[in-house]
Amino acid sequence: MITIGMAYYPEHWPRELWSQDADRMAALGVKVVRLAEFAWSRLEPRDGCFVFDWLDEAVSVFADRGIKIILGTPTNCAPLWLYKSHPETLQWGRDGKPTDTGIRGHRCIVSPVFRSFAARIVDEMAKRYAGRPEIYAWQIDNELENSHCTCPYCRKAFRDWLKEKYGTAENLNAAWGNAVWSGEISEWGEIEPLLSPDCMPDWHNPSFMLDFERFGASRTTDYVNFQRDIIKKYDPNALVTTNSCFPVHMPDFHKEFAGLDVAAYDNYPPIRPPEGPEELYSNGFALDFVRGFKNKNYWILEQLAGPGGCWVPFGPTSEPGQLAGYAMQSIAHGADLLCVYRWRSALSGAEMMGHGLLDHDNRENRRFAEFKELIKRLEKLPRLDRTTVKSDVAILYSADQEFALKNQRQSANFSYWTQLRLFQEACAGLGVNTDVIEENCPLDGYKVVIVPTHHIVEPSMASRLEDFAEKGGTVVLTNRSGVKDKTGKCFFGIPLPGVFSKLCGCVVEEYDPIGKSTQRISASKGESYTVTGWCDLLRPETAEVWARYEGRFYSGAAAVTRNSFGKGLAYYMGTVGEKAMYRTLMTEILREQSVPMLTALPRNVEVTTRTGDGGTYRFFFNNQSKGCHFPCNGETVSLRPFEALVMTQDGQWI
Ligand code: GAL
Ligand code: ZN
Repeated sequence: MITIGMAYYPEHWPRELWSQDADRMAALGVKVVRLAEFAWSRLEPRDGCFVFDWLDEAVSVFADRGIKIILGTPTNCAPLWLYKSHPETLQWGRDGKPTDTGIRGHRCIVSPVFRSFAARIVDEMAKRYAGRPEIYAWQIDNELENSHCTCPYCRKAFRDWLKEKYGTAENLNAAWGNAVWSGEISEWGEIEPLLSPDCMPDWHNPSFMLDFERFGASRTTDYVNFQRDIIKKYDPNALVTTNSCFPVHMPDFHKEFAGLDVAAYDNYPPIRPPEGPEELYSNGFALDFVRGFKNKNYWILEQLAGPGGCWVPFGPTSEPGQLAGYAMQSIAHGADLLCVYRWRSALSGAEMMGHGLLDHDNRENRRFAEFKELIKRLEKLPRLDRTTVKSDVAILYSADQEFALKNQRQSANFSYWTQLRLFQEACAGLGVNTDVIEENCPLDGYKVVIVPTHHIVEPSMASRLEDFAEKGGTVVLTNRSGVKDKTGKCFFGIPLPGVFSKLCGCVVEEYDPIGKSTQRISASKGESYTVTGWCDLLRPETAEVWARYEGRFYSGAAAVTRNSFGKGLAYYMGTVGEKAMYRTLMTEILREQSVPMLTALPRNVEVTTRTGDGGTYRFFFNNQSKGCHFPCNGETVSLRPFEALVMTQDGQWI
């Protein structure tokens, strides 16, 4: 059974309301509530003075009604007394100045002083609640970012991390190529991870930026493990996670979740349907990506329930069917637990217009009715949690590419995520599951491995991919692959795609970073497509040409190639195309590999399959605001706007 939950903040509501709310949740089918995640000032109103009676009562109110608790450690929001008495617990910005207090998330997760206060409150909570039958799981902090703090502790920690990695200043100078612009250091104290507000990151050495991101990621991972250890000390069997999101400064999620029990994500898909057909809209990639954090089913700890309203201007409301459709989409991609954010909109605070399932008026509204209906439907699928998403296609992700390409965008219209998402969307539109896996995951069992923009390269990656193709798999590589080594410096003396040239059977003769302007390419089978962002002019060696450029001085040059390699194939895409190009290319690749497809799905219909000893379930999600019909297995399927229908293995539609 898929577990349904709610975010609930007892500290925002009078006690008389708690039992009414719990009664209503129980009647709705809610099985877990998330409590306490921001409640530090209520749990420790003064230094060392702990007040748990209210939380005890809230836990019992829910537990009495059969609802278990996901207990949040409250460390995202340190109480104001802590910042006053210990200003060294405050986070500093990249401008080298302490951030404002009075909002949230502004603690330095590296500061040993902050850590000692965090350890104490988490220890008090764990001592009291860990191992109790009411507790379902633990959530550490909230939506952790890659730490970019520049407080004195963090600056020292960064230098220590570099010292440990490079040993000597000379080694670091060589690794970063610091001879450029007199960037050489003679002692560690010269390293300053600061960026003035008017200085764009692209003025800094990309190798330095890459290590700064890796360091920040290591702090975030260390921080979750630090809290996990405290909880597990009291209950080694506790289920511990943290709710991730995709912030500006992305952590290294695979490392962050490696020591946690389950991956969790806060799912806020876009409410406005796409303006144009080229807009990447689906959240499907995000969900496949989260499943890949631990290569198993995940939890949604927050799922949009109403118009957003913390970050003004407030967001639009969802269309009928959209909340349920998005919830089903999360489940289709592997969620086994889904919590709505939040039960009811707050009456106060910056987020008072961030709408819950219930509005301030507390009446059962349209969204509530829609969610109630969804829970009823899920009750008809009691064995769904004994299934998962199995895929023939893997898309490789790497935190290093994310870090490097964010800090040094390759052209005005270039985005690593766009490259990844284009492939995922093409597969979802063909009813083909995709796994998004970390670059070092084993490739066995896949038929197609897509490696978009593998920019920072460990040469062993080329041999792994060659081996995969050799044995019969298809590899797809794209532009800006093979450019830099792990220090972030460009390779010398080999044409791109460098270590991947042999596999791809082509080299990049020249390239044109065209930014936002466009070009056309024509495929050898006749179709032509618009491309943008980047154009590699390819010289095939053993490869055949799949598409050529039309126009500009390189009209006729190869843009996409296809190379036979051992028993398999390697495609190289030298440019970024419109969605239709990915559909054509993926259809061809999947057909070559005999991967079953649904080629008649209308645009924006996504099909995902969950299988396992709980059965086989095919989810058809109409991710758009107009209805559609299409043929499937001899029948016509009709979907309302944003409707998600599940087909069970005995052909029943639920
Ligand atoms: C999330 C956050 C929640 C809440 C929500 C509002 O990112 O974790 O605490 O702020 O957004 O939509
Ligand atoms: Zn700091």
